Amino acid sequence: MIKIFLICSILANLGIFQAARTTNTKKSYTISTLASSTSTKHAPSKHNFTVIKVADGDTITVRNNTDRNLVRIRFLCIDAPEKSQPKWGAESLKKLAELLPLNSDVKLSGEKIDLYGRTVAEVINHKGINVNKNMVEIGMVVHYPFQKGCNMYQYAETLAKHAKLGVWSDPKFELPWDYRTRMGIGVRGKSNATSTTTITKTTNKDNSKTYSSNSQTSTNSKQMRSSRTKS
Ligand SMILES: *[C@@H]1O[C@H](CO)[C@@H](O)[C@H](O)[C@H]1NC(C)=O
Ligand SMILES: *[C@@H]1O[C@H](CO)[C@@H](O)[C@H](O)[C@H]1NC(C)=O
Ligand SMILES: *[C@@H]1O[C@H](CO)[C@@H](O)[C@H](O)[C@H]1NC(C)=O
Repeated sequence: MIKIFLICSILANLGIFQAARTTNTKKSYTISTLASSTSTKHAPSKHNFTVIKVADGDTITVRNNTDRNLVRIRFLCIDAPEKSQPKWGAESLKKLAELLPLNSDVKLSGEKIDLYGRTVAEVINHKGINVNKNMVEIGMVVHYPFQKGCNMYQYAETLAKHAKLGVWSDPKFELPWDYRTRMGIGVRGKSNATSTTTITKTTNKDNSKTYSSNSQTSTNSKQMRSSRTKS
């Protein structure tokens, strides 16, 4: 009797979860946040890199010390104020340059190639600080909510907001994607939350294609762009 009851309640729970997933993406996001909030940390890759240039609050150039190639890195899970955004564009860049002195050694973790062929990663600085996360913690960048595996960033941002740190001290601060949309700049800014989520999903599903062939990637991007233009 007890067993049957247990099985029923488990099935009922699954049913509820599935319903939530199919009918309400926001809810499924919350559920996955709870389920995996402690398991999203990536191990740093074995290669090491040297900082060559800090371009803006979420882009740097590093030298890969294994093959000596220069690689442009976009920071995973975060979005920095644009350079042209009042006050915070410059502040964010300055802070990032402090965390990543030129010629210092860094490690990367969770690196992958995004839909636009860019390398995105978490950057661990010479002191072992996860720079992506630290920038969120001090309110110098915002958590980018349209990427998978970034749950711990959402929490860090909640704390920064609560403490009114950095951009969160400024009631006039405009979220970078809103700013870009308004100004008509940037790849990310051209799509809003709904369409970007779709892109993320498609990227994950088509991972092999994205990695194996550049022409496939650009075809995908073109399709994305045209589907976004329609919506
Ligand atoms: C960085 O990588 C190079 C080449 O693989 C290696 O010789 C060096 O010891 C590494 N440095 C650190 C700090 O891990
Ligand atoms: C660094 O170089 C190694 C060796 O070529 C390569 O396997 C690795 O993917 C490179 N990492 C990045 C982020 O480019
Ligand atoms: C975002 O997408 C929704 C739904 O497709 C659309 O109604 C809205 O106008 C879009 N907003 C912007 C700023 O593009």
